[in-house]
Amino acid sequence: MGRAKKVVLAYSGGVDTSVCIPYLMQEWGVEEVITLAADLGQGDELGPIQEKALRCGAVESLVIDGKEEFVQDYAFRSIQANALYENRYPLSTALARPLIAKMLVEAAEKYGADAVAHGCTGKGNDQVRFDISIMALNPNLKVLAPAREWKMSREETIAYGEKYGVESPVKKSSPYSIDRNILGRSIEAGPLEDPMTEPTEEIYLMTKAIADTPNEPEYVDIGFEKGIPVSLNGVILDPVVLVERLNEIAGNHGVGRLDMVENRVVGIKSREIYEAPALLVLIDAHRDLESLTQTADVTHYKNTVEEIYSQLIYRGLWYSPLKEALDAFIVKTQERVTGMVRVKFFKGNANVAGRKSDYSIYDAELATYGMEDQFDHKAAEGFIYIWGLPTKVWAQKMRG
Ligand code: ARG
Repeated sequence: MGRAKKVVLAYSGGVDTSVCIPYLMQEWGVEEVITLAADLGQGDELGPIQEKALRCGAVESLVIDGKEEFVQDYAFRSIQANALYENRYPLSTALARPLIAKMLVEAAEKYGADAVAHGCTGKGNDQVRFDISIMALNPNLKVLAPAREWKMSREETIAYGEKYGVESPVKKSSPYSIDRNILGRSIEAGPLEDPMTEPTEEIYLMTKAIADTPNEPEYVDIGFEKGIPVSLNGVILDPVVLVERLNEIAGNHGVGRLDMVENRVVGIKSREIYEAPALLVLIDAHRDLESLTQTADVTHYKNTVEEIYSQLIYRGLWYSPLKEALDAFIVKTQERVTGMVRVKFFKGNANVAGRKSDYSIYDAELATYGMEDQFDHKAAEGFIYIWGLPTKVWAQKMRG
């Protein structure tokens, strides 16, 4: 009796997930493997991937276009939350996992599978995200992670695959581990494992080196509706197109790179290089529009929510009760985050150059230093007397 009869496997076409197909069947007694490749804009040709899965022994090979859902229901929600893990990483890889998990669960239910599987190893964040998302969506499904249990080296994995018709990688495999989707690229391992080693220019594909960027600045007006990006330069765009276009513009000006050492869920520190041009720009612009349209207390309180929210995404808790509750808060805060932010791109910078909104609560007559000033300067004196009173009393007692 095997671990499961029918399994839906998350499939990328790489060696590891390909080897998972015969491994599940030969070693763990699985009768049928259905592969599922999610197209989230990773730029691979998915047709060949489909055939490859069948050649490796899958009974069925599904390819699902999830780009629209990914951008709309995952990335844009995250932008509303200004989600940056450890204040920097815009979660471009992390956000894809709960959606892939959802696709796996839906396929398992549709095809009557009793388990889902993924090719993650035991050291990363992605296993945590897959396993927890799957159990949150359907606690009755088993989760199988062969690569977490097999004790094969890279060479042994390839050799094992060859035995069962998995072709070995044609080109010499890159020393890097790269994850890519429409939101960005995550690059780690190989020479990057030394935190002092500067990445070489050729690892970047979405962003230009500053030396190659245009010598003229470019302005882009980003339109938001209730905290959701909807237009570029006044043209309403489909969410996927908006992200693709902004990736190109920002990348062309060398905007969107990140080099950081981060704290993984499993306790390991890892060094990762990111490219996430549009996502980083959108979060910055969105935050700016919030500063124009939200009261100070909402913005300040929301900052603390954003930190927790980013941790939830990073740590695999997208489908969790706390995340759901925070969503309700975030959506409420976005009711008037509608307007436009003008971003200036130039030589690796994307700076906000202006913003406006019909819901702006910026008051020029209060802010001005000119003659129109409506602010009651005398009131400041009484305010400071009371606001500073505890400190003054403390000083008198302590220093008196
Ligand atoms: N560190 C990132 C995260 O946990 C990316 C993980 C995948 N990275 C990779 N290079 N394969 O979300």
